[in-house]
Amino acid sequence: MNNYILPNYNRINLKFIYGNGSWLYTKNEKYLDFSSGIAVNCLGHANQKLIKALELQAKKLWHTSNLYRISEQEQLAKKLCDNSFADKVFFCNSGAEATDGIVKIVRKYHYALGNKNRKNIIVLNNAFHGRTVTGIQAGSNKAHREGFLGKKNCDCGFTRVSINEVDFLEKKIDSSTAAVLFEPIQGEGGINTFSYEFFKKVKRLCKKNNILLAFDEVQSGIARTGKLFSYQWYGISPDIMSLAKGLGGGFPIGAVLMTNKVSKGMNPGTHGSTFGGNQLACSVALAVIKEVTKKNVSK
Ligand SMILES: Cc1ncc(COP(=O)(O)O)c(C=O)c1O
Repeated sequence: MNNYILPNYNRINLKFIYGNGSWLYTKNEKYLDFSSGIAVNCLGHANQKLIKALELQAKKLWHTSNLYRISEQEQLAKKLCDNSFADKVFFCNSGAEATDGIVKIVRKYHYALGNKNRKNIIVLNNAFHGRTVTGIQAGSNKAHREGFLGKKNCDCGFTRVSINEVDFLEKKIDSSTAAVLFEPIQGEGGINTFSYEFFKKVKRLCKKNNILLAFDEVQSGIARTGKLFSYQWYGISPDIMSLAKGLGGGFPIGAVLMTNKVSKGMNPGTHGSTFGGNQLACSVALAVIKEVTKKNVSK
């Protein structure tokens, strides 16, 4: 293996040189790609539409920062809103950043309403929300936290409840609760799904208690379940949702989608990202969304 790379992954000793559709190629062998870059390459490798979008944009403009308007970002945001519950989008570069974005935005929402104590977020057992400090606090994998957090590996700002136990969840809601956050289908924690009843009751509880419902669709979103977002199977919608992975089909991009109501506290200066939503990433993601929202997805 390589002495210069941080050994934080348990890598398989395989180097792929190129890919095409569902196939990956080493120097001498061909592999069927079952992992799709961990739920990323939603249109396969070397998809012609994505190559074209990337090439066209690469010749025009890569990056300007969010100091200026970015028309590719505006088009992508509209496309995501037109196809979901959302009215507003914040762009970032990864799933962990998107989930961090959720945490900040829901806290700021309550803060802006004058509810300064509403900072706590209810999360589930077996949850995975990324590897930032906030992400590992929201997630439940002990190995991900070991050595990284303060006293007693604390869940500071998060309360954990069991999957499908809505009565227990209800008991945990109090005047410090800002939101309930979960993956509509848990990925890293096992392919765990929830009953329709769970979705409906949690939605009802959120409404009743004026707290927000947040979905992490980083892994379950972008047509992985046959609908663009997996929440769309359940007849309810969240107030805020994170996306990444399949959104760029392999180009790094993340997003937080939210309603106008939830966006209220996010004034200029409250949040940001240097690379988030740049021209290159948004052009590719726009091509992905145009493709996966078509009836017949091309190869
Ligand atoms: C549900 C969920 N949220 C967040 C993340 C973190 O995404 P990223 O690795 O892009 O930071 C992942 C990654 O596997 C995920 O599955």
